[in-house]
Amino acid sequence: MAVKSRRTLLLASGALLAVAAVVVPVVAGAASADPASANQPRIVGGDKASLSDHPYAVYLTDGGGNQFCGAVIVSSTAVATAAHCAKAVAKQEMHVVAGREDKRTDEGDVLSVSKIWISKGYSDPTQGDDVAVLTVRGQLDYRPAKLPDSGDAAAYSAGTQATVLGWGRVADGGARSDYLRSAQVPVVSDSDCRSDYSMYDQKTMVCAGYEKGGVDACQGDSGGPLVVGDTLIGIVSFGDGCGKAGKPGVYTRVSAYVDDIQAQAKSRIF
Ligand code: ARG
Repeated sequence: MAVKSRRTLLLASGALLAVAAVVVPVVAGAASADPASANQPRIVGGDKASLSDHPYAVYLTDGGGNQFCGAVIVSSTAVATAAHCAKAVAKQEMHVVAGREDKRTDEGDVLSVSKIWISKGYSDPTQGDDVAVLTVRGQLDYRPAKLPDSGDAAAYSAGTQATVLGWGRVADGGARSDYLRSAQVPVVSDSDCRSDYSMYDQKTMVCAGYEKGGVDACQGDSGGPLVVGDTLIGIVSFGDGCGKAGKPGVYTRVSAYVDDIQAQAKSRIF
């Protein structure tokens, strides 16, 4: 794409964000009768969360040490994340931060990345296959998330309450959270998600959120876990804005990638 049209696109999305910033508080206000979206600081519409409940939740930092995505521990040597996160920063600069609820502290462990696996066929989040596995140097001494059975459909039945975790923006266009946050979001049926997003692919994606919006993942949450209990069913991938009515979050459908993730979780390159 030419630099000029890119700039135009950026300007256009900036304008969209500005519009969204005006629209979203109205949406959130309208949804506040729902206890799940009560007027608290958010992931969007969520609450502060604890690593003692979700020790597998980790985040990724760039060369400047800034958090840019989430990820999830799947073994003592590997984390799963979104492919678009794995591609965003050079491997030599990327770090996995585990055991640190509050970004402003130096708790937990900071591990470098020795290997990046990206799903075959990945090009863009909206095309699916938005999953990657990072192998770390050293050990992740934290309880990993469980993986669903390969091809498992039961974990994805519409209405199942799932938990999304992350350190991302607390409002559309807003600031990122210093603390780990979580929100409860119901799994959306494939047919509903297809009408919300024309590019929805039920083989590689799953949607979660409320039809009226107000509760969602947001920028910076990408790559982080969507769990039912301790089972990883989704990885934060994309969405139209955050918490907008009729625009649930779209997640990578983990059950479609279990064999690949497991193979990567075992392998180790020294
Ligand atoms: N792509 C975003 C990221 O890189 C995640 C967006 C999720 N959006 C949503 N509305 N659920 O952090």
